Amino acid sequence: MRFDILTLFPDIFPGYLGQSLLKRAIDGGLVQVCLHDIRKWSRDKHLKVDDRPYGGGPGMVMMVEPVVACVEAVRTQSAEAGPLVMLTPQGRPLDQAGVERLSRHERIVLLCGRYEGFDERIRLLLEPEEISIGDYILNGGEVAAMVIIDAVIRLLPGVLGDAESSQCDSFSGANRLLEFAQFTRPREYRGLQVPEILLGGDHGEIARWREENSRRRTEAWRADLLDKPLEEGRGNP
Ligand SMILES: C[S@@+](CC[C@H](N)C(=O)[O-])C[C@H]1O[C@@H](n2cnc3c(N)ncnc32)[C@H](O)[C@@H]1O
Repeated sequence: MRFDILTLFPDIFPGYLGQSLLKRAIDGGLVQVCLHDIRKWSRDKHLKVDDRPYGGGPGMVMMVEPVVACVEAVRTQSAEAGPLVMLTPQGRPLDQAGVERLSRHERIVLLCGRYEGFDERIRLLLEPEEISIGDYILNGGEVAAMVIIDAVIRLLPGVLGDAESSQCDSFSGANRLLEFAQFTRPREYRGLQVPEILLGGDHGEIARWREENSRRRTEAWRADLLDKPLEEGRGNP
């Protein structure tokens, strides 16, 4: 799978991509991440990519010309254009169903904003899928792009040691509930015991305990998940 990241700050990425599962997926050829500096598409002699907003107000706005030129050039670099994802707090909130859908593509192009965001004509011309990672404001789309890559990569065959493990995760699998409580050694710590049933080796009993625990946690902490349509989440890309 190929990710193209369009950003004004490409140097943000190598550290995170160079560790753990992501590094293994990249080194093993399962994933390719191509970084593109939007500034290279500026035709201004000072490589300007942002300007003051018409109508006044604080901050700067990302200019339409370099962004559109960059997106159009990058999308033609590979036979598979893939979805163009604009990271924006005004987009559809990302959820696990949305991540699963994104993971079915061969390629995803991720457009990161900065400053006060994008000139509106970028959205109108390119018609991207607009994704938010939550109702709060980041300084830029880079962390949001990294969130998408991190979450999608987990789902690609061959990335996790045990393919079943992503099916057991919270928001995943057939029922999309919170995952059950997990324990590892020691059996007792500061008076807190591991539930006896998990030590007994009866797989049927363990499965029932986990199902019940998962349902109780979801009801207590995330009852909203129980009302969510199961098949496709709430209509992410
Ligand atoms: C400071 S924000 C701009 C926010 C914009 N003024 C608004 O209120 O909608 C700069 C950039 O960070 C990214 N960003 C900020 N919060 C985000 C979020 N919750 N999800 C995805 N991207 C986000 C977007 O790419 C955005 O263009």
